[in-house]
Amino acid sequence: MNIHQFDVVVVGAGGAGLMAGLYASRGAKTAVISKLYPTRSHTGAAQGGVAAALGNLEGDNPDWHTYDTVKGSDYLGDQDAIEFMCHEAPQAVIELENYGLPFDRTPDGRISQRPFGGHTNNETGKPVRRACHAADRTGHMILQTLYQQCLKNKVNFFDEYQVLDFIIVNGKAAGVVAVELATGELHTFHAKAIIFATGGHGRIFEVTSNAYAYTGDGAAILLRHGLPLQDMEFFQFHPTGIYKLGILITEGVRGEGGILINGKGERFMPKYAPTIKDLASRDVVSRAIYTEIREGRGVNGQNYVYLDVRPESVIKYAALDGRTNPDGTPYIVTGEQILKKLPDIIDFCRVYLGVDPLTQMMPIQPTAHYTMGGIPTNKYGEVVIDDKNTVLPGLYAAGECACVSVHGGNRLGCNSLLDIIVFGKHAGLKAAEYAKTADFEKLPDDAEAGSRSAFEALRNGSGKENAFDIGTEMKKVMFDDVGIYRNEKGMAEALEKVRALKERFKGVRVTDTGKIFNTELLNAWELGNMLEVAEVITVSALNRKESRGGHSREDCPNRDDKNWLKHTLVRKQNGEIKIDYKPVTITKYQPKERVY
Ligand code: FUM
Repeated sequence: MNIHQFDVVVVGAGGAGLMAGLYASRGAKTAVISKLYPTRSHTGAAQGGVAAALGNLEGDNPDWHTYDTVKGSDYLGDQDAIEFMCHEAPQAVIELENYGLPFDRTPDGRISQRPFGGHTNNETGKPVRRACHAADRTGHMILQTLYQQCLKNKVNFFDEYQVLDFIIVNGKAAGVVAVELATGELHTFHAKAIIFATGGHGRIFEVTSNAYAYTGDGAAILLRHGLPLQDMEFFQFHPTGIYKLGILITEGVRGEGGILINGKGERFMPKYAPTIKDLASRDVVSRAIYTEIREGRGVNGQNYVYLDVRPESVIKYAALDGRTNPDGTPYIVTGEQILKKLPDIIDFCRVYLGVDPLTQMMPIQPTAHYTMGGIPTNKYGEVVIDDKNTVLPGLYAAGECACVSVHGGNRLGCNSLLDIIVFGKHAGLKAAEYAKTADFEKLPDDAEAGSRSAFEALRNGSGKENAFDIGTEMKKVMFDDVGIYRNEKGMAEALEKVRALKERFKGVRVTDTGKIFNTELLNAWELGNMLEVAEVITVSALNRKESRGGHSREDCPNRDDKNWLKHTLVRKQNGEIKIDYKPVTITKYQPKERVY
């Protein structure tokens, strides 16, 4: 057996994993394992910015940020954790700046900020410039910066190691098992503390902005150990993905003055969000786009509308909206300036669509974007396993796989990059502190047995099913029936279908039975994880009989605080799915109707 021993093992090398690894490595012997090369992690796809109330261009403060996040969450976010994150935000961003992250600058040299959906001046209700950005490559820059810091700090990296299992001994975390993709060998990582930073699971949907790696591995592994997942029914659809392809078109386009236009050439967002218009929270904008499409106002009767960032349109609508420069002068922008602020977006549209956003409108549709639910944690990244928030010793989670819960029913744009740096840091700190006094638990005699038999069963399966076909069917049914709009009948059918697909999955046959970089086998294993996750999402969504944030039910169209202002905890016991609840932490802000 290949056994490695570290005080702290981080699983996942996106922004949360790297931040956790960096902080843990300052106090403990730390390894980061990842199924990818770290700088290929999905954090690199985050475009528009990281939220922090620096107030560099206009008045802002962390309390406004806190309130906007609570409101954006549709009051399902835990307010103590939200306040903690928003108040840590300015320092966290300055820390990244000190590490050398090349943020865009204001003319006087401070970090530049742009408006983003749901972030407001709490006095006027109008958009506030809170998103700190490095062109439209902010996540990419964070990833590179943190990776460099980790290398400098001598974090041990195990690149292209796919985690397969979690080892728990005497009720405490004791390690993980992973397969080395280059050789097919299993490895056991024996540790005092494990931090899951394995990302989300947007690949369960047909149209998504998520990387291929986003297959819910961490969530599925813990689910198999009987641990709960929280608020899995809440998944975010980003309003603007490239039509059919799902590739993200950053909200920063609307932050820079872009507007949404339907097939009749009308700007429609003022109808749905009269004050904040195109910069309402994502759940509101995605539903508005879908409503336009469903009522026949998509472009050419198709499932898309336009996003318009042509300079002449930006100038026209800025004047109509009363949007000015910070010094009060009229907001004027040139094509050259837009290109500088949104280079990747312009490039994507030119390359993938043959559309030039400086002279043409972009065809967009909502795209599955962000996992709000996940592994329940407290604000220090400790995994909690029940409604009393009991901590599982030695187990931590951070980033998109975790549910702190700061995003509740709907995440505000730019709060994910903030989430990963704040909670990645605290998970790393806590894990290192725990490792100082904890002992290594004795590993079971054959810690790899479960992984070996599951993996070998998949490798040697003699059935006739094709994993790709099963995955394609799962993605379609999840997108159509457990997507932006949901109802009892559709979700019940989706559940039946997902369960049938799970049965078929038992008969999957892979054609490549080799050991070296066997991506076919790996993809089949990931599909097993996605099916687990799709099932618990659907069960949780069927169970929640209200509409809140990203969970929008046509048959229960209203938010119901009396019965549903609570977190869902879903777990699997003896093959059965069980649902419990946990109260939402409300401190300063009593739930009220959301008006944008
Ligand atoms: O629109 C965007 O740039 C995405 C940012 C986010 O999801 O926070």
